[in-house]
This record gives sequence, C-alpha cells and structure tokens, in this order.
Amino acid sequence: MDFLRITKNNAAGAALERKRAISYTCPMSIQETLKGRSLLTWLDYTPDEIRYFLDLSKQVKHEKHTVHERFKGKTLALLFEKRSTRTRCAFETAFGEEGGHPVFLSTADIQLGAKESVEDTARVLGRMFSAIQFRGFKQSTAETLAVYSGVPVYNGLTDAFHPTQALADIFTIEENFGECRNKKLCFVGDGRNNVARSLLVISAKLGVNFSIISPKALFPTPELLKTCEDAAKQSGAQITVCDDAAGVAGADALYTDVWVSMGEEAMQEERRALLQAYQINRTLMDMTGRKDTIFLHCLPAVKGEEVTADVIDGPQSRAWDQAENRKHTIKAIMLATLAE
Ligand code: CP
Ligand code: NVA
Repeated sequence: MDFLRITKNNAAGAALERKRAISYTCPMSIQETLKGRSLLTWLDYTPDEIRYFLDLSKQVKHEKHTVHERFKGKTLALLFEKRSTRTRCAFETAFGEEGGHPVFLSTADIQLGAKESVEDTARVLGRMFSAIQFRGFKQSTAETLAVYSGVPVYNGLTDAFHPTQALADIFTIEENFGECRNKKLCFVGDGRNNVARSLLVISAKLGVNFSIISPKALFPTPELLKTCEDAAKQSGAQITVCDDAAGVAGADALYTDVWVSMGEEAMQEERRALLQAYQINRTLMDMTGRKDTIFLHCLPAVKGEEVTADVIDGPQSRAWDQAENRKHTIKAIMLATLAE
C-alpha cells in the first residue's frame, strides 16, 4: 500500500492501481506489476518481486558481453546532491550501453529545491525523461519526485535508504552461496545508516538471517525493526540486534560501511570513539569460527577505520564483485521497470 500512497498523482501508479483492481479476476504477472514502478525503498516490494529482480540480474550478468539496445529512445536524468562513483557509473553505463541517453545533473547544475521547488523540477523532468535517478539527503525528495514526475524514480541513496546497493549485496551473497535464504548476514558498525536499514528490509523480506551488531546508540529505530519483524514472520528470517561483537559467530557474511556517512561529517570524532570496538579485522573475521565467511563492503571504504586493509584486500573479500554487481542489478531494475 505504501507504493500506492507514494505514487498517487503518478500516472504509472494510477495505472497500476487500476490493473490491480482488475486483477481480482485476472491476476497480474510480476512483470506487469513492475512496469512503471519507482524504487524508493524495498518496503514497497513483495518478496516475489525482489526475487524477480535477482533472477533478472543473473541473466543480465550472464549476457554482459551481448550487445542489446533495450533502452533505445529512452532518457534518464541522474540527479546528484551527494557524490558518487559506483552508483553514478552503474546507472550511466548500464543505461548508455543499451542505447539510452543518460544526463548527469548535480545540484551545481540545476535548481532542485533551490530556486525552484522539487515539485516543479519533477514536473519538468517528467516531461523530458523516461526515468529519474536521485541521490541526495531526504527520502521525502525522492518521494516527491516520484509523485510529481509521473515517471519511475530510482533511489540511488538517501539518508534513509540505499535500495539498489542492497540488491547488489544479496545478489553477491547468492553468487557465493547459491541462495540467500537462511544465510547469516551480520552488519557490523553504524546500525542505523542507510545501508544497514536497506539490508534489514531486504533480508526480512527474503528470509536472510540478519544481525546488526553496533553500539546501542546506533541501533535502528524500533519502528523500522517492528516493520521488518512483521515481514520476517512471513519469510522465516531471524532478525537480531545486539552490541556484542561475539554475535558474528557462525556468520556466512560480515558487512560493514563507513562510520561517518555523507552529510554527517561533523560526527567524525564521536563516531570513531563509539565504533572503535566494531572494526572488522582479522580477529573479528576469525570470531565467526568459519574459514569461508565472506567480507562485504558497499564502498567507498576508509581502510584502518571500519575495516583493515588485510581483510578488504584479502581472499575472503567480495567487495570488488559487489561493486561490479551494482551495474548488473541496476540494469535489471531499469529493464524490469522501464524497458518495453
Ligand atoms: N556504494 C556506493 O553507493 O558507492 P558510491 O557512493 O560511489 O556511489
Ligand atoms: N552510508 C554511506 C554509504 C555510501 C555508499 C553514506 O551514506 O555515505
């Protein structure tokens, strides 16, 4: 229902509402439910829909050397309030190499929320582009863009969520272990940041046993935990939150992210003090009690803070596969929601 709320006033959302009403007698296929959809958070998606994106990502990666033109004649606005290497490059190359025309627009270039309201920018972009990628501060900006543009909006990271990252992360876990269900994924560090929150949501939906290991001050909110625990009841996922690093025992994957996210630079000293005991180093990797535990990081990494160089550059690290997988999974998201 969240999705329908977000997309009221959105032509694609209204069309989906009509299609869903009819689907009592004629069920919609997953492909039909995905066409024209925005991806703002995985909270708006069913486990089957997320599974569809994962399966399509596998096909996209398998065919990565085949030339297609599945975005020919389409345009993509890439709006960036914050910096990016992977997300920008993944969207831009995935879209461009399929014949689409991506246009990069930073807030140094356009009037987003400055001299022009987000609503008006959205209305204009919706007349000129087939879809919009937004990376920035407020989740509400991504929601407003979706409501007023009438085209699919992809959340390329906000303070609240980083959904395209989480899809690549689960995809990478499946590449290593065959499936993600019942695997133990531990996020160690800032447990309330955008990456941790997105992993929490997607894990709860897909049946991944997800643990957040962080200081109590950085636990995710009770509201989000409650929502995810409800989803976990359906999927069978075990969700745990604790401040004891011993919680990594038995983990299939240990994951960390920077201690200071973009926009929080003033918190640097406080975070260093709070998170020192949560660094992923050789000792913590060994505390899993397993030799085949993989290490994951969304990147960019601050080596020597949240992870030591020997771990991220070592044989258990899959951080570089994860970075490549951003492109395949983002292409799959755009193919499912945008291509003919
Ligand atoms: N992981 C990720 O989103 O990287 P960028 O900030 O480089 O896009
Ligand atoms: N939590 C990090 C993720 C970067 C990809 C940030 O928001 O800066």
